[in-house]
Amino acid sequence: MTSPALPADGPRPLDPSTVVVTAGRPARVPGGPLNPPLVLSSTYVSQGEPPAGDLLYARMGTETWSPFEEALAALEGATLPGLVFGSGLAAIAAVFAQVPDDGAIVLPRHTYQAALGLADELAARHGVRVVRVDIEDTAAVIDALEAAAGGAGRPGLLWLESPTNPMLEVADVPVLVEAARERGYLTAVDNTFATPLGQNPLAWGADVVVHSVTKYLAGHSDVVLGAAVTDDPALRAALHGYRTQHGAIAGPSEVWLALRGLRTLALRVERSQATAALLAERLSTHPAVAEVRHPSLPGDPGHERASRLMRGYGSVLGLRPVGGREAADALVAAVRLWVPATSLGGVESSLERRRRFATEAPTVPEDLLRLSVGIEAAEDLWADLDRALRAPEVS
Ligand SMILES: Cc1ncc(COP(=O)(O)O)c(C=O)c1O
Repeated sequence: MTSPALPADGPRPLDPSTVVVTAGRPARVPGGPLNPPLVLSSTYVSQGEPPAGDLLYARMGTETWSPFEEALAALEGATLPGLVFGSGLAAIAAVFAQVPDDGAIVLPRHTYQAALGLADELAARHGVRVVRVDIEDTAAVIDALEAAAGGAGRPGLLWLESPTNPMLEVADVPVLVEAARERGYLTAVDNTFATPLGQNPLAWGADVVVHSVTKYLAGHSDVVLGAAVTDDPALRAALHGYRTQHGAIAGPSEVWLALRGLRTLALRVERSQATAALLAERLSTHPAVAEVRHPSLPGDPGHERASRLMRGYGSVLGLRPVGGREAADALVAAVRLWVPATSLGGVESSLERRRRFATEAPTVPEDLLRLSVGIEAAEDLWADLDRALRAPEVS
């Protein structure tokens, strides 16, 4: 029903920064709306034999989800529509649910902490084997895949985040995906940090890409939403079935807002990435900073891989101030423009000390601050950070 993101007769595919604007629009008809309508209806008129599609009951599908799902597919390079979920974690749960009870989940030790918790729950309740790996060490991950595949059970899932949350490690995703597929694993990439503008893991052979839409895609810190995109019809049907049966669905209003937010994704990401790289460079020589992590820095362990695999280096920074945990807490208390808050990917810059959560991985340093760079003026962000770093006690 909606306009195609890529004109079939065009001389070349549209740039992703155009696709975010054009995808998921209603068909161009005189008098028709430019934007998809927000439809608030829990059910659809029907009788007798149920209709073939999803428009029967709004836990199965709605015409407000479809434009966003089509836009996501266009951005991730899938021919099948994406699947929107009630949160990023709900999308992750749907993918984890594909792992058989005697299978394994191999995942980064610094995966988003709630995903780690979910994997541990599957281990405790269903016997799934959970193997935490250091994704910077490609050979060690392949060894772990080999070992987990050769065990008593079946291979299960290679779950990747790259860059990782919150350590910003960059994986050699194409190599790991290929190694996992060769050994019979399902492969999934949480693409929240990179966004579809930064990398497209389906093109590297990943079976499914997951997003916390809450973050960059929606971009305004006003919705909680998730999505999964796959080009495998059987896997899509399984994820769709999970969503319907577990009721892991999104409200139409949130999805409508997310599509509106998506329209400016390219502008927001371009701006916040540039500012993140500038701040990383300045912070790397700041006297009150012990360590800064951002793949844009030539000395960063992820720099070579990110330069080779990603378009841009992302908008999240890792920062360890001189003075340890107390200095980190003081910095969070001292900033005025940066917002002390969890989450990331909004237009506003925010920061937090990740180990304030007991559930954060123990290998994340106590004093690590995760900074999410927004779209404010770079010099304003720098001035606030610099002042708070130099004299947190007088702020
Ligand atoms: C990388 C990553 N994946 C998934 C999630 C979970 O998404 P949601 O909060 O939308 O459930 C988060 C949330 O912080 C995240 O940072």
